[in-house]
Amino acid sequence: MEIRGLEESLPEAPLSGSDTVYVESDHVSIGYRSKRTGIYKPACSDLNFNIKRGEFVVIIGSSGCGKTTFLEAVAGLVPVTRGEIRIGGHAIKGPGKERSLVFQSPSLFPWRNVRDNVLFSLQAQRNLTPETKARAEDLIALVGLKDVMESYPHELSGGMKQRVNLARALVTQPQLLLLDEPFGALDAQTREMMQHELVRIWQAADLGEARNAIFITHDVEEAVFLADRILVFSKSPASLAADIRVELPRPRLPAHKRSPEFLKFQDLVLSYLYQGDSNPRESAEDSR
Ligand SMILES: Nc1ncnc2c1ncn2[C@@H]1O[C@H](COP(=O)(O)OP(=O)(O)O)[C@@H](O)[C@H]1O
Ligand SMILES: [Mg+2]
Repeated sequence: MEIRGLEESLPEAPLSGSDTVYVESDHVSIGYRSKRTGIYKPACSDLNFNIKRGEFVVIIGSSGCGKTTFLEAVAGLVPVTRGEIRIGGHAIKGPGKERSLVFQSPSLFPWRNVRDNVLFSLQAQRNLTPETKARAEDLIALVGLKDVMESYPHELSGGMKQRVNLARALVTQPQLLLLDEPFGALDAQTREMMQHELVRIWQAADLGEARNAIFITHDVEEAVFLADRILVFSKSPASLAADIRVELPRPRLPAHKRSPEFLKFQDLVLSYLYQGDSNPRESAEDSR
């Protein structure tokens, strides 16, 4: 089989392109206090890093390490215990219009068709105008669902539902898109296609200049494929184990996943992910 080198693909500017700091995680610790025993258990410990304008950041860590907790804190759904998360210089006090969250399970309204599920985000923000409605329909076309605009969730495949979910998150033109293992429940083939699609949609969507994404996964290949930058979280409680810039040209194609350069980044991430484990490969299997 011929493996094409990455250098053969067309060079394209990375998704990141600015020096302005957008998200600041300033010595953030987050934990939960048991209602029953009152005992405090840390989930994230002293997470300290900045994310620049325009960066597509992937956070990777093993199951239960505290990824969702951190993302929900950025979304304004979980309070931080110590430190501060700032967006555009402002400390987070709760959810905000400039952020959209995409969960693993699409949670669409079963009684609304595709179009109305997407329009719901606009209605919730009291921003349903002819202009935003047209934007919603453009987005539905962009995610490849033009032909099923009138269909209901039960008529859609898992991948299609996740496309609706994505359109619904993007229609409010968020400056910061937060994705929590959005493709985790999809079969391998659909997942691969959706990774590719996400980058395409991300680049083509009408979001203005400022666009940031924080994407969570426990899949190393997915992380390297998508990221401008990978933040590796340690085992629970999550601290920052590594901060890796993925210097692979774009567009990245699924075929590139077998190239030596790609595998090099994958090995690098793996080495930090399972730091201290006696048998990293075995642990990698365990965490799936
Ligand atoms: N609402 C909650 N109440 C108490 N403990 C929680 C809650 N949510 C998560 N945790 C705990 O915090 C830790 C990190 O969980 P989570 O952030 O979901 O990890 P990940 O997303 O990396 O799998 C786990 O030990 C989990 O049990
Ligand atoms: Mg999680």
